[in-house]
Amino acid sequence: MTFEFLLFTLNMNKIKSIVVVSLGLTLGLASCDSGNMRRTPGHIYAPDMTYSVAYDAYTSNPNFSDSLTSRKPVEGAIARGHLYDHLKEGDTTAYKTYTTSMRFNADELKEGGRLFNIYCGICHGSNLDGQGPLFASGKFASMPANFKDAKYLHMPVGQMYAAIKYGKNMMGSYASQLDVKQRWMVLAYIKKYQSANGGDAFTFGESGKATPVVVDTTKGAVAMADSKDKKDEKKK
Ligand code: HEC
Repeated sequence: MTFEFLLFTLNMNKIKSIVVVSLGLTLGLASCDSGNMRRTPGHIYAPDMTYSVAYDAYTSNPNFSDSLTSRKPVEGAIARGHLYDHLKEGDTTAYKTYTTSMRFNADELKEGGRLFNIYCGICHGSNLDGQGPLFASGKFASMPANFKDAKYLHMPVGQMYAAIKYGKNMMGSYASQLDVKQRWMVLAYIKKYQSANGGDAFTFGESGKATPVVVDTTKGAVAMADSKDKKDEKKK
């Protein structure tokens, strides 16, 4: 046996033992925390902080028959400032005074006209005389409102808004087709058209500044309902 050979075998043994030890360590450590991990540490300083006593928001709750921990609003609840958006004929005449503080620029009024022709024109007619193709063809029995007629020329926008939102007799609701801003844009288009045809002065105004797409739906109501809220706030 030469000296070199002895050195080599010595090294081999060293390497072997390093491999065996590290393998053992890896396996040993891994087995501590594999499969069913231990979720419960032995000692917890403040268990009621580690494990919430209250029901977490999305966990099931045995105290309610529907097992929801996050409760739904009471039926009929209306978010503050949204009351006027929920008023309809028969609730109170106040729905007629509903209006908006949104102001539309020329592009938005044009968009209002486009939407009108898509959703309303088929009945109310592209020149707003109630002679849309559906009614003119005789396939629709009920005469749509003729917006040039005196009855509608001075109709409050709140009442017209209610017609879009809830429908009116033979006319269905357009609430699912038009969002709040779109409804007011359509109404602005109608009102502007009416003011050019003997109706009241056009009050929605062209702002020159576009109303943001995400619209604060409370704005219309704010103009009226919140004047009272603001007084209440001052008192506080
Ligand atoms: C399917 C046909 C039809 C479509 C589409 C239609 N309407 Fe009407 N609309 C009617 C009829 C019919 C009436 C008359 C209801 C009545 O007084 O009995 C009416 C009435 C109205 C009134 C008067 C409400 C009142 O209080 O007297 C407004 C305002 C109105 N429509 C707006 C719209 C707008 C805005 C659209 C589009 C978003 C639209 N309508 C789409 C058929 C339609």
